Amino acid sequence: MITRRMFLSAAAASGAALTIVPLPKPASAATTNVTLTPAPASWPVLPNQPETAVWAYNNSLPGPVLRLKQNDRLRAVLKNNLTQDTTIHWHGIRLPNAMDGVPGLTQKPVKPGESFTYDFACQDAGTFWYHPHAGNPEQVGRGLYGLLIVDEPNPPPVDRDVAWILSDLRLDKNAQITPDFSSFFDLTHAGRLGNVALNNGKLVQPFAVTAGERIRLRLVNTANARIFDLRFSDHAPWIVALDGHPLDAPLQLGPQDRVTLGPGMRVDLIVDLTGIPGTRFPIFDRDFQGREHRLTDFAYVDAPAMAAKNRAEPKLAANPVTEPDLKTAERLPLLLGGGMGVPYALKVDGGPELDMRQAWDKHRMAWSLNGEAMQDHSGHHGHAPLFSLKRGRSYLIEASNDTSWPHPVHLHGHVFRVLTQPGRPWRDTVLLQPGEKAQLALVADNPGHWMLHCHILEHQAAGMMATVSVK
Ligand code: C2O
Ligand code: CU
Repeated sequence: MITRRMFLSAAAASGAALTIVPLPKPASAATTNVTLTPAPASWPVLPNQPETAVWAYNNSLPGPVLRLKQNDRLRAVLKNNLTQDTTIHWHGIRLPNAMDGVPGLTQKPVKPGESFTYDFACQDAGTFWYHPHAGNPEQVGRGLYGLLIVDEPNPPPVDRDVAWILSDLRLDKNAQITPDFSSFFDLTHAGRLGNVALNNGKLVQPFAVTAGERIRLRLVNTANARIFDLRFSDHAPWIVALDGHPLDAPLQLGPQDRVTLGPGMRVDLIVDLTGIPGTRFPIFDRDFQGREHRLTDFAYVDAPAMAAKNRAEPKLAANPVTEPDLKTAERLPLLLGGGMGVPYALKVDGGPELDMRQAWDKHRMAWSLNGEAMQDHSGHHGHAPLFSLKRGRSYLIEASNDTSWPHPVHLHGHVFRVLTQPGRPWRDTVLLQPGEKAQLALVADNPGHWMLHCHILEHQAAGMMATVSVK
């Protein structure tokens, strides 16, 4: 097995001369057309090792960066060259239900050899991503994911706009993805954690920076299960947006503060590179047992600092989200249950209550929302919604994590204000630590049937999933 120590030393040995691939310029046309073809591909991940057999969009891991301007349309043709059904979900985009990419709920699964056209406007600016929603963890886990950037009309001025698409892979000694998807252990514990962390589809490398520059750093966690919990040593990044949506006021981090991304989540940072040319600053990550390790470095190139410039607090204009009315909001309890660590009982697809052993033996289910586990196999339509919401009404979801594991809970088609977090941010995914409670306020303003699920894909596959209807 390739250990974390091995990849860390590979990263440390490789020096700072990393080519920076700039993101594509914003498109000027009102509609951006793209064809996305998921298919088996071969991709170099580890140096001096055979290429890794992956599944990738357009032979690239991650898939192509899609970039358009706020309110422009995306027309994306999905051409399925896999040997199994797929779809594309546009994570975080508030779009019409029929474009949401959930097989059995919002569209028919796209069969091998078939195509499907997604066509929608992007009303919110920010950092989003796309991935299959085919119900099992394998498609994302083999490499099917990509970045979707929607540019503000007036983005905050920066010297560079870069993205770190953070993920991981579980590789064997020949650098091949191990086929042990959906094992009992992964489904009932922390999910499928890889043994190699990736940034933009490559082994994490030191990140070359120039003294004096101000960068916008878009962080995206596309891993099946890994939570990234970063600390930027002696830098003081501003968090300007979470899950694409600007904070009401940016939050500046101190040297001990952390940037935490559960699977599915995004964080937009503005970072002033205030170090000295030729020096390196470690960026630490922390695993679920609390152990800190060096994920990467800001590696300052040995070149004169860029000219001094405005270091003022960055500002981003809000997206057009309707404020929930907290006085009239109806309260909805959301209890996260199941998993190893505490005994539990649950019902599968509205059936009788089962103990943990029966739920696993009969259905391979291990997690629940409000005591219900939802299976994916037969499509979602027969399943009663967990919440039936009235269009235009405000709701307050009172979520409570009754398990021994963290869960990033994601709602489709909407964003909610997390009232229990500093700055009450808008989010589409909220990370709940074991025992944690959160209050999520939203207006149910997008009609249709929407998914609500844990974005640890193994937890989703083992039942932590439900639908919400808005009528
Ligand atoms: Cu990122 Cu239901 O998904
Ligand atoms: Cu979970």
